[in-house]
Amino acid sequence: MTKLEKIAREIRNCKECKKRTSGRAVPGEGNPKAKILFVGEAPGKKEAETGKPFIGRSGKLLTQLLNSIKLGRNDVFITSPVKYYPGMRTPTDKEIDHGKIHLLKQIGAIRPTLIVLLGGVAHKTLIGKVKISDVHGKTLKKDKVIYFSTFHPAAALRFPYIKELMKKDFKKLERLKITATVAIFKQ
Ligand code: URA
Repeated sequence: MTKLEKIAREIRNCKECKKRTSGRAVPGEGNPKAKILFVGEAPGKKEAETGKPFIGRSGKLLTQLLNSIKLGRNDVFITSPVKYYPGMRTPTDKEIDHGKIHLLKQIGAIRPTLIVLLGGVAHKTLIGKVKISDVHGKTLKKDKVIYFSTFHPAAALRFPYIKELMKKDFKKLERLKITATVAIFKQ
């Protein structure tokens, strides 16, 4: 069993995660050696039924955006800070703080060079609280990893102007993708 599979098993057995959530665990999926990691918010209803991340409407848009920059879902790893469906609400700080423990373990196992933060919850979990509209399209280097901020696809589905901004962000990401794949960090 790989390190990542062990972490997924921990998530499936995690009593703390299950306290206020329902459905199956959604640990994440994709290439275990991915250079690019996508971090969302929390699984939705469809994801909780199947145990797979981003397979609902938001997921379809995410897949289209990935394809638009010549990436398939199997080229990257896709996950969320919160691993269980919290219901029709934003995850609480407590759920995010707890989910972060699992997420950091996954990051340690995958060791991506580029982490794409999809929306405010992902940003808050790994960098700090911001208004995502202030930082989208921007990069930040921290602990030898490049963080790239953009919106959550669910926001793009609600607001057409956000979808347009997200498409532009992905164009920037296409250039960064090359850096990430060949990245050698000296510091
Ligand atoms: N939204 C997320 O943030 N994660 C999923 O897995 C699905 C929808």
